[in-house]
Amino acid sequence: MSNLLEVKNLHVRVEDKEILQGVNLTIGEDETHVLMGPNGTGKSTFGYAVTGNPSYTVTEGQIIFKGEDITELAVNERAKRGIFLSFQNPLEVPGVTLSAFIRSALEQKTGERIRLFDFKKKLKETMELLNMDPSYAERDLNVGFSGGEKKKAEILQMLMLEPSLAILDETDSGLDVDAVKTVSNGIKIFKERCKGSLLIITHSTRILESLKVDVTHVMSGGYIVKEGGADLVNQINECGFESLCKNCNENCPARGN
Ligand SMILES: Nc1ncnc2c1ncn2[C@@H]1O[C@H](COP(=O)(O)OP(=O)(O)O)[C@@H](O)[C@H]1O
Ligand SMILES: [Mg+2]
Repeated sequence: MSNLLEVKNLHVRVEDKEILQGVNLTIGEDETHVLMGPNGTGKSTFGYAVTGNPSYTVTEGQIIFKGEDITELAVNERAKRGIFLSFQNPLEVPGVTLSAFIRSALEQKTGERIRLFDFKKKLKETMELLNMDPSYAERDLNVGFSGGEKKKAEILQMLMLEPSLAILDETDSGLDVDAVKTVSNGIKIFKERCKGSLLIITHSTRILESLKVDVTHVMSGGYIVKEGGADLVNQINECGFESLCKNCNENCPARGN
């Protein structure tokens, strides 16, 4: 299967600090990847760098998406090509309703006007799938939304925009069991409906329970230190990141090498 995203030797600086120090990571089409690692290790930085946030400067390396070098492209150009990032802490945008925000993002992505009737219909159906109260569509984006509603709003955006690559940054953190279920259901719908690829940044196994994970990457200190299959997530949760399992038994696939 051809590669959707190919990140090669990525070095990223934030302010004066080099956070990513040579990350290599490849995601194929229609694949689900998990990115784990201790706090402050550069996982969110990686998400921001791939989506093109200008605060994150690429000092070395390349980001190739669908065979095109996008390292220098602006955020909106990357979004047009099908990259989506769900933020760890979604921004509040007073004065712009959730509905208007999504419609505008969709029009920017496709470069075409979308009939209001068609848009509203799809929005309503998708909100129903996510158990979202329809009144949220006409509320200002994320303003006064609970943590769970903010995360649902992000999943709603993903389902409406149908990106080829969605990066979900701790979309499950701080959610109760029901909200995690809704989010993970939304991710499943995304896989079925859009056949897109996912990079899920998480510490939790709950959100992954109903998903087929293809590859797990472990980041530490700005590098990918370990890669494996779906079972690596469980092993990491059992053994911790610290020594990548130096202390557990030799059959553990997460054991450092
Ligand atoms: N916008 C920023 N300004 C200053 N420092 C940042 C910024 N974003 C990230 N960092 C720093 O980069 C490091 C990695 O952060 P981050 O990518 O958020 O880690 P993770 O998501 O793995 O917890 C941390 O030391 C953090 O303080
Ligand atoms: Mg983070």
